[in-house]
Amino acid sequence: MVFRVPIRSMATAARQSLKIGMLPADGIGREVLPGAKAAILALGSSIPKTEFIDLLAGFEYFTKTGTALPDETVETLKNECDCALFGAVSSPSRKVTGYSSPIVALRKKMDLYANIRPVKSVSVNPEGKPGVDLVVIRENTECLYVKQETQTVGEHGKEARATRLITERASRRIGELAFKMALERPHKHLTVIHKSNVLSITDGLFRETVRAVPTLPGVDGKYDDVTVAEQLVDSAVYRLFREPEIYDVMVAPNLYGDILSDAAAALVGSLGLVPSVNAGDSFVMGEPVHGSAPDIAGQNIANPLAAIRSAAMMLRHIGYGDGANRIERAVDSVLREGKVLTPDLGGKSKTSEVVDEVTKRI
Ligand code: NAI
Ligand code: MG
Repeated sequence: MVFRVPIRSMATAARQSLKIGMLPADGIGREVLPGAKAAILALGSSIPKTEFIDLLAGFEYFTKTGTALPDETVETLKNECDCALFGAVSSPSRKVTGYSSPIVALRKKMDLYANIRPVKSVSVNPEGKPGVDLVVIRENTECLYVKQETQTVGEHGKEARATRLITERASRRIGELAFKMALERPHKHLTVIHKSNVLSITDGLFRETVRAVPTLPGVDGKYDDVTVAEQLVDSAVYRLFREPEIYDVMVAPNLYGDILSDAAAALVGSLGLVPSVNAGDSFVMGEPVHGSAPDIAGQNIANPLAAIRSAAMMLRHIGYGDGANRIERAVDSVLREGKVLTPDLGGKSKTSEVVDEVTKRI
């Protein structure tokens, strides 16, 4: 995948060793993260000597200890790790007292304000143009994910409310990142996703703030080559399925970005293919877009490629673009050949067999 993350780059020059925090968490997160580790190890001496630090988090950990994200995990990430990889967490759909999703919390605690989710198909011909080649940039810290919910009893029974927070600051920084990324891509096209026709105050602020990025002090025409469009989120999903080629970079508030990127994953064949990084100005955490997939967990059939691609994105982000390219080329060639694939892609191979096939090609 040719993809560069132009968020403020993290200097690599002096790095003698690399410490990667590993948070497999729950379900298939535990099955796919070893694949990401194997891919990084397959790079050998082309990256600094790498140490993997296993860290605890997740719903299962919560059921044993009463916390889903121990302070030690956050402290180790902040003080010892250069970057991290997260697997997936099994957050229940019912309210569990005392439980809160560790990944949502980590994004906030580490100020990983952007979730960058490239969705790209692999063309049969290595020189061919992919049918789908877009990036969803999801604001990662606010919107409904501030998780301020209340329930009261009104005249007609129970009433539940959720606060949706959109700030100018968060919208501006995600907007700046979106413009930067659009500028680096061949089509230089940015679509702002919102629902301002209904939510004119919250989504209105997001839309206006993102659109105003080119007029910010200091920008000085830097984004003149970026074309900007906007699309209401519902019709954006419709158009995504009918004419994905109209999209290049899509920037969206948290919830819409979450939904759009899962939808976009369907266009390339599987959620098990789509990687992401949670990026802030001083830390990056790779994470496959998928969840813990309880329906297939424990069978060694989860597709590890999203996790492996997330490792590549993470490495590129901290300055190891050559290593990232090698991993991505290996993944693409396995997909192109189509012989060693997990069942989600119509294959019969196990997770571990796909990992072996990728690492062999790195
Ligand atoms: P999901 O992404 O876990 O699964 C959706 C569907 O895609 C399932 O049929 C699953 O088998 C398939 N799938 C996902 N990843 C795959 C892979 N690597 N290989 C093959 N097939 C794959 O979403 P779902 O079912 O809505 O959520 C399950 C759990 O995951 C929930 O507890 C949810 O809270 C959690 N979740 C966690 C996320 C995270 O940790 N960032 C993100 C999304 C959901
Ligand atoms: Mg999701």
